[in-house]
Amino acid sequence: MSYQVIARKWRPQTFEEVTGQEVITQTLRNALEYDRLHHAYLFSGARGVGKTTTARILAKALNCHKTDKPNLTPCLLTDPDICPSCLEISESRSMDVLEIDAASHTGIDDVRGSIIDNINFNPARDRFKVFIIDEVHQLSKPAFNALLKTLEEPPDNVVFVMATTELHKVPETILSRCQEFEFRTIPQQKIFDRLKLIAVAEKIDISDDALRELARSGEGSTSSPASVREASSREGASQRRRALHSSEPCWTSRGCTAPVAWAASRRRSRASPASPRPA
Ligand SMILES: Nc1ncnc2c1ncn2[C@@H]1O[C@H](COP(=O)(O)OP(=O)(O)OP(=O)(O)O)[C@@H](O)[C@H]1O
Ligand SMILES: [Mg+2]
Ligand SMILES: [Zn+2]
Repeated sequence: MSYQVIARKWRPQTFEEVTGQEVITQTLRNALEYDRLHHAYLFSGARGVGKTTTARILAKALNCHKTDKPNLTPCLLTDPDICPSCLEISESRSMDVLEIDAASHTGIDDVRGSIIDNINFNPARDRFKVFIIDEVHQLSKPAFNALLKTLEEPPDNVVFVMATTELHKVPETILSRCQEFEFRTIPQQKIFDRLKLIAVAEKIDISDDALRELARSGEGSTSSPASVREASSREGASQRRRALHSSEPCWTSRGCTAPVAWAASRRRSRASPASPRPA
């Protein structure tokens, strides 16, 4: 299975699966259930805490074809009869759920081209047109102004979900037109539980100690399945090295420093803005 397929498989697909953000997911479920949807949401919080994941689940819930109104439990990727809307949203290729990366599309022409010129057309197939704008704080001032006009009077079947890691850079005029959700850093025990679930299901051979270290090094973000594999092979390599250099083979991770060193180097590399981040 490719890295992308595994990462997609382990991206939470239901509101229940989004760990550590229960207040937010419950509020969104209530809004869907009692038809109290806001037309613009702003999700803020650290990296890897579930902002994009929740935006996609909300988009699926709004547009799932299994019901003729928003569906609190949209289709799973493993459903044999998954609806086309949920499938395409999960694969980021829906015509009605548009993901815009404001980090690389900062200008007014980008906002015009991807949002404003598009907004008055009905959804191609689904109930709602959903615009997910990632790293929204990176938009230029003219781009924000253009967006503002749209946020003032969007069509009924349009929902905006904006996400940011730097809330303080989003202008007050935009904030005042959104319902804001602040995503929390995820408690270490919850991250550990999630990593353990992934390790067991994917049959990855890794000790609880190494998983705990991985959870700790995440500093409140969850890690990708790839990092669990990576930590597991580092732990394995470290055990093999110890076995080579000692008469007593090291059968447990206790005392093995590789995952710790790896986590520390990961923390150091995270401090650099150019460092890659998990999918
Ligand atoms: N709250 C969570 N519960 C379970 N898994 C999570 C959670 N948050 C993140 N993940 C895992 O981390 C991956 C990345 O999460 P996501 O893209 O939602 O983060 P984000 O908050 O949008 O981060 P960024 O600011 O970097 O865009 C997901 O695919 C998922 O595997
Ligand atoms: Mg994101
Ligand atoms: Zn569906």
